[in-house]
Amino acid sequence: MGQWSQALVLLAFIQFSVVAAFTDVLDSTALLSLKANWMNVPSSWVGSDPCGDLWVGIECNNSRVIAIILSNMNLTGQLSGDIGAFSELQNLDLSFNTNMTGILPQEIGSLKNLQTLSLMGCGFTGPIPSTIGSLQQLISISLNSNKFIGQIPNSIGNLSNLYYLDLTDNQLEGPIPVSDGNGTKSGLDMLLKTRHFHLGNNKLSGTIPPKLFNPNMNLIHVLFDSNNLDGSIPSTLGLVQTLQMVRFDRNSLSGLPSNLNNLTNVIELSLSNNNLSGLMANLTGMNSLNYLDMSNNSFTVSDVPPWIASLPLLTTLMMENTQLQGQVPVDLFSLPDLKKVVLRNNHFNGTLDISNTNSNRLQLIDLRNNSISNVAQIPGGNITLLLEGNMVCDKTDQVTKSYCTASSPNSSYFPPPNNCMQISCNSDQVTSPNCKCTYPYKGIIVFRGLASFDLGNTTYYAKLAKSLMETLQSSALPVDSVSLSNPTVDSFGNIELSLEVFPFGQECFNQTAITMVGFALNNLSFDPPRSFGPFYLIAYTYGNCAAALNKSSRTSNGIIIGVAVGGSVLLLLVVLAVVYAFHQKKIAERASEQNNPFAHWDQNMGNGSAPQLQAAKRFSFEELKKYTNNFSEANSIGSGGYGKVYQGTLPTGQLIAIKRAQSDSMQGGLEFKTEIELLSRVHHKNLVSLLGFCFEQGEQMLVYEYIPNGTLMGSVSGKSGIRLDWMGRLKVTLGAARGLVYLHEHANPPIIHRDIKSNNILLDESFNAKVADFGLSKSEFDGERNSITTQVKGTLGYLDPEYYMTQQLTKKSDVYSFGVVMLELITARKPIQQGKYIVIEVRKAINKSKDLYNLHEILDPFIGMGKNLEGLEEFVDLAMRCVADSGDKRPTMDEVVKEIENIMKLSGMNLSADSEPTTANYYEASKSNSHHPSSNDVFGYSGSFPPSSIEPM
Ligand SMILES: *[C@@H]1O[C@H](CO)[C@@H](O)[C@H](O)[C@H]1NC(C)=O
Ligand SMILES: *[C@@H]1O[C@H](CO)[C@@H](O)[C@H](O)[C@H]1NC(C)=O
Ligand SMILES: *[C@@H]1O[C@H](CO)[C@@H](O)[C@H](O)[C@H]1NC(C)=O
Ligand SMILES: *[C@@H]1O[C@H](CO)[C@@H](O)[C@H](O)[C@H]1NC(C)=O
Ligand SMILES: *[C@@H]1O[C@H](CO)[C@@H](O)[C@H](O)[C@H]1NC(C)=O
Repeated sequence: MGQWSQALVLLAFIQFSVVAAFTDVLDSTALLSLKANWMNVPSSWVGSDPCGDLWVGIECNNSRVIAIILSNMNLTGQLSGDIGAFSELQNLDLSFNTNMTGILPQEIGSLKNLQTLSLMGCGFTGPIPSTIGSLQQLISISLNSNKFIGQIPNSIGNLSNLYYLDLTDNQLEGPIPVSDGNGTKSGLDMLLKTRHFHLGNNKLSGTIPPKLFNPNMNLIHVLFDSNNLDGSIPSTLGLVQTLQMVRFDRNSLSGLPSNLNNLTNVIELSLSNNNLSGLMANLTGMNSLNYLDMSNNSFTVSDVPPWIASLPLLTTLMMENTQLQGQVPVDLFSLPDLKKVVLRNNHFNGTLDISNTNSNRLQLIDLRNNSISNVAQIPGGNITLLLEGNMVCDKTDQVTKSYCTASSPNSSYFPPPNNCMQISCNSDQVTSPNCKCTYPYKGIIVFRGLASFDLGNTTYYAKLAKSLMETLQSSALPVDSVSLSNPTVDSFGNIELSLEVFPFGQECFNQTAITMVGFALNNLSFDPPRSFGPFYLIAYTYGNCAAALNKSSRTSNGIIIGVAVGGSVLLLLVVLAVVYAFHQKKIAERASEQNNPFAHWDQNMGNGSAPQLQAAKRFSFEELKKYTNNFSEANSIGSGGYGKVYQGTLPTGQLIAIKRAQSDSMQGGLEFKTEIELLSRVHHKNLVSLLGFCFEQGEQMLVYEYIPNGTLMGSVSGKSGIRLDWMGRLKVTLGAARGLVYLHEHANPPIIHRDIKSNNILLDESFNAKVADFGLSKSEFDGERNSITTQVKGTLGYLDPEYYMTQQLTKKSDVYSFGVVMLELITARKPIQQGKYIVIEVRKAINKSKDLYNLHEILDPFIGMGKNLEGLEEFVDLAMRCVADSGDKRPTMDEVVKEIENIMKLSGMNLSADSEPTTANYYEASKSNSHHPSSNDVFGYSGSFPPSSIEPM
């Protein structure tokens, strides 16, 4: 009998793990020795068997230590050479232990399996040992915010797998090391896989070696700000076309390469506070630039260069003290996305004319200390105009005067006050947003880039807090909420925010949670959401609350284990009794099954592990009511013909989306059940997962995982605030196609989606596609005939004409709809817009003898963003085959996947980029007017439930 053997295995496991778990003797000796050097080790560090005794922060595999994660433990002491003993160690994280001091021992070089080394925010001193160069598996090095001195070791150049290098905020000096080309010396130029060079805020000096950059590199961030670098930036920088953020500000640089404008993907360029002289560089063609800062250099006196007003995506222009003269150009203000223009301390004269402003985004024009004598038109809207120190201020009219006395808008932001009744907490406690006295995890978030940072914008903070919250939740941490406040700009030009993370359900975090909060947030900074740009965390030491909490839970664990071992015979009897009772209960329940199709589904199935459920969990109406604040309007995130969609939060903190059918779109109980059984078997990374359902009190609800970045339609239209570039669009197409292949070829029975549309393709936090709303209400599928006959359902514009005519639904009907989505992706048009059908419009416009098939007029202007559209013609060919009139002529989804993969190879995209954390392919859309986050476009779980009849779009 199955339960019997399970019970025995369980028993054997308990006995084994208590009696026989032991740590490799070298590893345990080394850990005991490290412990002897440290104060404040976690309270669970007792005994001599770290793996068996489950020491907090120690992770083992087959008795070997594979991870040491002790972030923010207030560890005090030094790291001894014993660290070299852990030959299987993969992750070492001692971040935010400010009292960890002394040198980083050279034995670190023996950790041959180390992949991540995270020592940020500690007190390490001395040079970085050159043995670090023998860690061939290293993917990321975070040594930022320590007191390392000396030169950057050449040997770092040997780390051929390195993705992330962060040495920011130390006291490193000397030149940036490069190889000598004949194999005797290595250097950073050899790091071809590395995406991040974060070397800012050190004492690096000398000229930047031309050898440092070459076209085979894949860098996206070069951050060399706040050092002592001099000479010219080498022209080899212009060969690294992958670059997105380039900071050389706050050095002593005197020259720029003439090919700087070859860097067409750069979003943020900061060259301020250097000794740049001569004419300002010509940046024509840097069409991705959002943020440009050239302030405080000694350029030759000149007019505003004409290329500035033709940077299409410019949001922030900082040109303070750059010797500019003449009239402020009128066309500058016609840039559509411009938010902030700082031109103070220059020689501008004549009349200021900003009547050309077609942007309601423009917030600040700072022209203080120039010689402007006239203002042509007073701007409307919310623009802050600063004119103090200009001739125009000698005039007496009141309106002008007000611009002469105005000061910089002050950009403080505090989260809305909580409405807690007066509750008295201890002085070191903080009232959480839900009115509990807690000890939050506190720190500062420091942004390295400024391009996307919107100081005055409260929705921005809310979005960021939400994103941090989601990161912590996806690491299964007991977090109640995240709060951000109090933005400030530090002396290096970085923006800082105060962070508080509140514990869920308890006064404070236990020690495991503490180590993991730091680890999770560090991983996020390693691969930040693009719209927030790169940042890092500086955590404050977490108080003693954690230690106290851990001690008490430890004792009770000990007792339970003791009882279990002592009474294993007793336990066996208990298990048997439970099995018997369960059996009896089942017999009783079978009778009621006829009435309630869910009767035999265990009510508590999967309780406590909601996120990883294989089968769907059954939720009670009361539970869902609680998770959605009584289905409040504030939780409603979309609606459609079927009813409404609500956002909810499980007690674990996981976000969910709940589809609640309205009465006229409900199915029969049996039909509903069949559907859930089907859906809960479907698991694929490109499909939205069903977590559970509710079938009681006359309700039918489906509970899905929550997908944060809205629908593809929201992105294509620019409404969700996120736009994908060509590569991003290819990736989404590929993801969605793979999801469909799974439904068509690998689900059992196969599933025809029937309602593929851009509103049913959602984007997760990494902008991977997830197909939603599949399989609803149609599961019977005749494998023999490969088709089913049904009443026609779907959405106008995406509907396969053959299916419409014959009522024979086949997989090729999904292929047709998919082809329409592909056309939507490149044109950003709705399938039917102003009476015109996208398929026909594209078909008419195609001229294969011309460049890009002559589609320039019809393409989404945002698709290329300055880059060439390699593979676009093949993509159009494929889409047109998908929308062939006859199903026979359309490819299968399998073939579609293969062709898209080919197109991506053709356009030079690394297919494994799928797993690599790439942030290159999307950016904050410029045109989004402040969009309410609960609108359907952003979190739109729209679509049909079930897809009942043809919906208008
Ligand atoms: C390698 O090249 C450097 C100059 O690039 C030179 O100084 C050095 O002597 C060379 N070493 C060998 C072993 O050839
Ligand atoms: C621009 O970058 C590409 C790619 O690295 C390179 O082939 C080309 O020579 C560069 N052009 C200039 C003018 O540097
Ligand atoms: C800047 O460069 C572009 C092309 O690279 C050229 O057309 C333009 O004339 C240049 N402008 C100036 C002011 O040199
Ligand atoms: C350790 O750091 C804390 C701050 O987190 C400080 O208050 C304390 O004095 C330090 N202790 C030692 C022994 O350095
Ligand atoms: C950190 O540890 C030191 C002793 O090493 C102690 O004096 C200090 O109070 C601790 N800090 C916190 C915040 O617990």
